[in-house]
Amino acid sequence: MKISVIGAGNVGSLAALHIARQDLGEVVLLDIAGALARGKALDLEDACAHLRVPYRIAASDNISCIQDSDIIVITAGFARKPGMTREELFDKNSQILKDLSSAIKKHAPGSIVIVVTNPLDVMTYLVLRYTGFAPAKVLGMGVSLDAARFSNLISQATTVPAQDIEAVVVGTHGEGMLPLPRFTYVKGIALDEFLDDAQVQLLCQKTRERGKEIVSFLGTGSAFFAPSLCIADLVSAIAKDQKRTIGVSTLLRGEYGLKNICIGVPCILGKSGIEKVIELKLNASETAALTQSAESLRALITRIP
Ligand code: NAI
Ligand code: 2OP
Repeated sequence: MKISVIGAGNVGSLAALHIARQDLGEVVLLDIAGALARGKALDLEDACAHLRVPYRIAASDNISCIQDSDIIVITAGFARKPGMTREELFDKNSQILKDLSSAIKKHAPGSIVIVVTNPLDVMTYLVLRYTGFAPAKVLGMGVSLDAARFSNLISQATTVPAQDIEAVVVGTHGEGMLPLPRFTYVKGIALDEFLDDAQVQLLCQKTRERGKEIVSFLGTGSAFFAPSLCIADLVSAIAKDQKRTIGVSTLLRGEYGLKNICIGVPCILGKSGIEKVIELKLNASETAALTQSAESLRALITRIP
């Protein structure tokens, strides 16, 4: 397996570390900013003695280094600053991802692409369109991060360890994010056995605002510790053909009554990329909220260059 990570910033460099230390394949780190990727790769490699895993990370500022990759992770582009929504990154990041999509099509036509750059769902749609890849081969990481955050917040409220909590979030990785308490289980037991409705609604709201909360404290840049682990989780599911169900942004073709839009829903992931889109049996209000979440993407999609 050759796994290329494009963008050696906060998210990309840590994702490269997590992928390399799990021995998921040969890792290549690419950044347009001169020798940045090289410096990060040397530092990441120096960590291997302490981690006791003998990995190597190749680095470059030349896009041709992604040649024949099996998996490509795109983290290149701008992160938001305090007061900005993810959607406001559209203008700057759409041009970057348009150029990268053409390069991926040329150098790695057989790859599976994991999009991370924001605004996530629109960027996933853009990469799908400009690579011309099959929908199964292009996915966006967003709602699995949101679900990790929802799990953590539920864990703090219930004192149950986060690993015993199975949280589900669908919709956009943005303002229209939709945590689904009805599909969320604590040690296999329904969430409403542990928390009342007001408590659950508060945790849903906190989950929606978690990214913004982190940005406001960081002052510059956005979250990267949890996001990089979520990326490695997706790479692992694909590289090891795990057939795990994880929420990702994918092109819907009638599922959930939605078409021609990329949005976060649970999918089975394996060596072919997205092997199945899972259709949860949403009730009327959940369906209406997901439809509204999807509609909020249409305006940006029409602005794709
Ligand atoms: P960062 O600013 O630390 O790193 C971005 C890197 O991309 C920079 O090093 C820059 O030189 C590089 N870059 C820009 N254009 C490039 C090109 N054409 N080719 C190669 N490299 C290029 O930003 P950070 O924190 O790593 O975030 C990256 C992106 O990921 C942002 O858009 C951010 O909003 C998004 N993000 C998405 C998450 C999600 O859940 N989907 C979670 C966290 C971040
Ligand atoms: C987050 O949710 C920046 O999208 C990223 O933290």
